[in-house]
Amino acid sequence: MSKTILITGSTDGIGFETAKMLLSLGHKVLLHGRNATKLAEVEKTLSAISSTDQIESYVADLSKFEDVEALASAVIEKHTQLDVLINNAGVFKTPNPVAENGLDVRFMVNTIAPYRLTQRLMPLLGKSARVVNLSSAAQAPVDLDLLSGKVHIADEFAAYAQSKLALTMWSRDMALKLGEHDPIIVAVNPGSLLGSKMVKEGFGMEGKDIGIGADILTRAALSDEFEKASGLYFDNDSGQFTEPHPDGLNPQKCEAIVAAIEVCLKT
Ligand SMILES: NC(=O)c1ccc[n+]([C@@H]2O[C@H](COP(=O)([O-])OP(=O)(O)OC[C@H]3O[C@@H](n4cnc5c(N)ncnc54)[C@H](OP(=O)(O)O)[C@@H]3O)[C@@H](O)[C@H]2O)c1
Repeated sequence: MSKTILITGSTDGIGFETAKMLLSLGHKVLLHGRNATKLAEVEKTLSAISSTDQIESYVADLSKFEDVEALASAVIEKHTQLDVLINNAGVFKTPNPVAENGLDVRFMVNTIAPYRLTQRLMPLLGKSARVVNLSSAAQAPVDLDLLSGKVHIADEFAAYAQSKLALTMWSRDMALKLGEHDPIIVAVNPGSLLGSKMVKEGFGMEGKDIGIGADILTRAALSDEFEKASGLYFDNDSGQFTEPHPDGLNPQKCEAIVAAIEVCLKT
């Protein structure tokens, strides 16, 4: 049966490859990008492998709260049900590490925007729905002052790794608090150093086949092996469900992350 799947950051890299794979399997894909021109190009390219009624496009810069809200509202306006939300959009190296709202852009795009989007789209996500959050092998203990934009650091990798652990932590906290009629929420490291724009620009290397990432996201979105994965972390480097950084299994620390995100959303 055709599913309706929203993939954030589907204008490039793993998100684009995943969109291609899911469309070729006959699913309806809601594309998302921050750049309207690039998004239109991607929609045109993907129209070649699918009928146009299987593709929709949404523009939103996830470093801006108003865009996150507008994206959620636009999806809610057109849909009463969403089968899968893949929170894929992410940023590592950037010339503008501080977003207009004062938050570190990694935390805003990689952690806080997907939290808010998931929260807003929850009414569309029923019992058999899935939320797939793009984690990473890069995970570091979270400085709540950095998450909250009270301090800033120059170390891009440190900010990225913290933002990815924070995403993994809210995923677990939200998953464990949901009931049996709610979607599963799973955090997935798609594989390290896959050859996307992020890896080429960030690490100056070609990287591995990004199809590895698209394949695991497709499995996380659709396959039975992820049916009971709510609250878990899948590491595609080892090819198994495994433990994230120890902080990711600490309920108090996970709750503290969620509380700090909620404060950011209210200010
Ligand atoms: N590649 C890897 O080895 C690897 C490993 C672990 C985890 N990941 C995670 O996998 C996800 C996909 O990464 P990738 O490697 O495919 O990187 P990528 O090629 O750089 O793609 C990132 C996507 O996110 C979008 N994006 C970035 N900033 C945004 C913003 N402010 N608002 C809206 N969209 C924004 C990009 O849009 P544009 O097209 O406009 O740039 C692009 O579509 C990320 O969450 C990343 O952290 C990747």
